[in-house]
Amino acid sequence: MSAPAQPAVFNPLEDGFIDWPYDQYRRLRAEDPVHRSDLLQGWVVTRYADVSRILRDPASSAVIDNAVPTDMTRAEIQRRDEAARGGRTLVLLDDPDHARLRKLIAKPFRPREVDGLRSLIEERVRLRVDALVAEHGAGTPVELDLIAEFAYPLPVEIFCQMLGIPEEDHPIFRFWVNCIARSLDPVMDQAERDELVARTDEMYAFLEELVETKRGRNDADILSDLVHAEEDGETLTHEELMAQLMTLYVAGHEPTAGLVGNGLRALFDFPDQLAMLQADRSLLRNAVSELLRYDGPNQFVRRIALADMAFDTPAGPVTVPAGAVVYASPGSANRDEAQWGPTVDQVDITRTDAGSHLQFGAGIHACLGSHLARLQAEVMFTAILDRFEEIELAGPAVWSTRMVIRGLSELPVRARLR
Ligand code: HEM
Repeated sequence: MSAPAQPAVFNPLEDGFIDWPYDQYRRLRAEDPVHRSDLLQGWVVTRYADVSRILRDPASSAVIDNAVPTDMTRAEIQRRDEAARGGRTLVLLDDPDHARLRKLIAKPFRPREVDGLRSLIEERVRLRVDALVAEHGAGTPVELDLIAEFAYPLPVEIFCQMLGIPEEDHPIFRFWVNCIARSLDPVMDQAERDELVARTDEMYAFLEELVETKRGRNDADILSDLVHAEEDGETLTHEELMAQLMTLYVAGHEPTAGLVGNGLRALFDFPDQLAMLQADRSLLRNAVSELLRYDGPNQFVRRIALADMAFDTPAGPVTVPAGAVVYASPGSANRDEAQWGPTVDQVDITRTDAGSHLQFGAGIHACLGSHLARLQAEVMFTAILDRFEEIELAGPAVWSTRMVIRGLSELPVRARLR
């Protein structure tokens, strides 16, 4: 007699989840799309329509203090308060505070301003490939790790250069940023948590010193713009500025590296799509949207329900009660057959509605850096197509253990560099 089927459960610790969470998401969408998770002491929401609704719903708060207290929320509030940074990052605030901060820091990230950064980004990417050519040689097939040697260092280098951070400090920033990205995961032991808090403090102290040097000057860089940010008579306090800077680093680095790494890995699984892109670069813009949809880095966005939220599900009506913590999954929503149809699990770089993906979130917190992320990804993919000839997978891709920001820690490739 076969054992009765287990109910669908969200379990990021299950074997295989880190490599490929999409099978678990599919089951949750089919059986329990608004799922109560004991592990997360909250709700996991996986269908496109529901995730989209939660992200846009004014009754979804980003402020953890609105949650009914649990061990996890208490611990998070305590960590935030002990860190003396007060959680004043715009990601963790509701309007009107959120809107005020967003307006103050938005200018450098508008499409026009970001387009002005194209040559800086192209130059940075060119220098990195030149360095790879110098190290590995050109013209004959070589093997290298596309994450460690290309996708991972570049976004943080680009951001450091935008902020005017000295070249020799870029590597330590990469390390710090990785620590902070890991600290976003809700599940980890206390020793690791303490270690990550210590690293965050180091980065904070470094940036604080740099900000002080910019205060009395009028340099033409983005950090100076942020230090002097003023809009309708409003200014950023020192604590607010520091919180936004830390956020920009974390928000900007790991997901952008993830987009390029996950995206290239996906193209290796769909070589016809890679060949199409190699033959016609005008497809790149839409390809970036499709790669974000197919296996983008952002797996969960967290909200607190300010009022009861009712959902119709295959198992009957479900109500998420006011005060509950909700993990809405763009990663799952972007693979929902009800939204994308029967080709949902294929990469199709000509998909006409690829731009409807939820990787950049939606509503008031929609990603501030989406233009910058897309531009960086386009320049990095162009460099891969132009300068990594006959690129192919050279060994197994290794996923990092993060649950919220999904990305590779290794992607061995073989190519002839030029
Ligand atoms: C592929 C790359 C990226 C992805 C997938 C991504 C994804 C997201 C998502 C899903 C949110 C919404 C979070 C929420 O609703 O709680 C968000 C917000 C944000 N992102 Fe990005 N992001 C990326 C790159 C960047 C870059 C390059 C920057 C800037 C340097 C950036 C800055 C921000 C900021 C400041 C917010 C907060 C906006 C707010 O709360 O109003 N992101 N991002």
